[in-house]
Amino acid sequence: PTIYIITPTYKRQEQIPDLTRLAQTLMHVPSIMWLVIEDAEMLNPQVAALLNRTGIKYLHMLAPMPKDQQKRKVKARGVSNRNRGLQWIRENFADKNGVIYFADDDNTYDLRLFDEIRSVKKIGMWPVGLLTSYGMSSPVVKDGRVTGFYDGWVANRKFPVDMAGFGVSVSMIRRNPKGNMPYVPGYEEDGFLRNLNVKISEIEPKAENCTKIYVWHTQTKKNRAPSRVNATIHGHTNIWTLYQ
Ligand code: UGA
Ligand code: MN
Repeated sequence: PTIYIITPTYKRQEQIPDLTRLAQTLMHVPSIMWLVIEDAEMLNPQVAALLNRTGIKYLHMLAPMPKDQQKRKVKARGVSNRNRGLQWIRENFADKNGVIYFADDDNTYDLRLFDEIRSVKKIGMWPVGLLTSYGMSSPVVKDGRVTGFYDGWVANRKFPVDMAGFGVSVSMIRRNPKGNMPYVPGYEEDGFLRNLNVKISEIEPKAENCTKIYVWHTQTKKNRAPSRVNATIHGHTNIWTLYQ
């Protein structure tokens, strides 16, 4: 089965380093299609050049956050991008045995994760490290079945899980054409899984019954420097032009 990896991204100084790390992980994974979707009005040429260098089968698309969402104080990040990816899966020829996975550009992924994703029949879940004061988020598994969730921020969610903690079959995405992600900060995962009509009883626990952590919610510290340098270096006045 093909893994469709849907990665939302947006322009900032950490974009190319974050995407470089993710790309060089994905270069080790067979049978994938990488949907890289920018929250922007124009494709970033540095991202295009990076994708081109990898040799990975990819699609580079745009899905800017809607204007009304941009105005909000707390924003639901990456939603327009992920919904664009889902739309592509529904409208185009996609491997009917395939699985989709939302891979944020800044997380850290162990190669073993992709074997777990590939084995998903309908909906699979696994732990995610480095989340909240609990140190991780994970389904709770008893006798091979998901009975609940361990998460530092349950907040009335039916599915208190992180974006990196689940994979969904292409067939489930296609069977539920309204299974999209809502613009509700903090409730993107829960809303999406509810809209997909996921039942707790059908969740497949992965990563040795959720006893292994193969993905971490890492976050890259923001650099304070401006993207325009103060003086000319090697004939460049813009750091981005050194990212080729
Ligand atoms: C957490 C979750 O892990 C995300 O999956 C979730 O979307 C996010 O919270 C949220 O609730 O908004 P966090 O590390 O706080 O993630 O968020 P980011 O990594 O900054 O953003 C998530 C993804 O959206 C990234 O791939 C990022 O590149 C992208 N993004 C972020 C955009 O496309 N546009 C933005 O304006 C910001
Ligand atoms: Mn993140």
